[in-house]
Amino acid sequence: MSDIDALEKDILAQISDAENQAALETVRVDALGKKGRVSALMKTLGGMSDDERKVKGPLLNGLKDRVNQAVLDRKAALEEAELDLRLASERVDVTLPVLTSQQGRIHPISQTIEELSAIFADMGFSVAEGPDIETDEMNFTALNIPPEHPARQMHDTFYLEEKEDGSRPVLRTHTSPVQIRTMLAEKPPHRIIAPGRVYRCDSDQTHTPMFHQVEGLVIDRETHMGHLKWVLEEFCKAYFELDSVSMRFRPSHFPFTEPSMEVDIRCRRDGGQILLGEGDDWLEILGCGMVHPNVLRYVGLDPHEFQGFAFGVGIDRMAMLKYGIPDLRAFFSGDLRWLRHYGFHSLDVPNLAGGLSR
Ligand code: DAH
Repeated sequence: MSDIDALEKDILAQISDAENQAALETVRVDALGKKGRVSALMKTLGGMSDDERKVKGPLLNGLKDRVNQAVLDRKAALEEAELDLRLASERVDVTLPVLTSQQGRIHPISQTIEELSAIFADMGFSVAEGPDIETDEMNFTALNIPPEHPARQMHDTFYLEEKEDGSRPVLRTHTSPVQIRTMLAEKPPHRIIAPGRVYRCDSDQTHTPMFHQVEGLVIDRETHMGHLKWVLEEFCKAYFELDSVSMRFRPSHFPFTEPSMEVDIRCRRDGGQILLGEGDDWLEILGCGMVHPNVLRYVGLDPHEFQGFAFGVGIDRMAMLKYGIPDLRAFFSGDLRWLRHYGFHSLDVPNLAGGLSR
């Protein structure tokens, strides 16, 4: 056997013995790299006589080509084997049933916000947001609550440190400033809800320093109280999952609406329980009204051209009523046993077609 044949046999054996891509690369460099064994032979061609080169040239080129091809073939085989190994070890059976022993639970507040959003989305509302730390201007002044207005005291506001310009940021006491932010940012018509956290310096069985509200706002050219009543009735029926609800609109006062109303829903109190949709009792659930002309003027709208309505609902209260949760403070105590009892499964996403709460 010639030297060339012996070299080829040796290199091809090394190639087929290479167990992984790194080992194969070492063999390749050792044969075909700049200082490799095949390359060294190729270099000797330069020093040969023409006759010798005519014989050895094709032999060496043939060797180089076959070694090259053997490296490529081995590389492809190794890649395929590695892929097979990964496919076997990383296999996921997508037909497996979902684990029913899942630990996590959706908090009733999150669930309620999802339910509210599904209901209002169905009526064409979108969800708007605003910051928890608000300016005094947005939280009060823009909503027709000027600096000396008594409503400011009623809100038990948490004030933050005064800024250099003399203004004092506040933790928003209600979600109503999102009305202003929406109307300043976009052109009417508006149809939004704004769920979120609000803060008041107050704490007992029915009050916590942080709680949740959802604000609603509709602004258009011909919006009236009939629309307001219809929207709230549809909302209550859908939320409480009742065929009909009996509601009572009582005159009230909010600086940012005129006229203003508080809305009660018919109920029966049975011991500690509250049963909705029956009985002779009334339970207050929200505040609402037609947006005050001063608020419209503040955001640059002409009250003769655009009108609308707004409402504010306590989310925690709505969750307590629907899910029979007696103490507001438990919502925020982080007690896992409580969450396991009152929480929701993460895959039960509320929607109107499949049912809000299951
Ligand atoms: N912002 C009011 C509060 O926190 C609730 C409210 C009442 C909001 C009437 C409204 C409304 O938009 O029209 O007590």
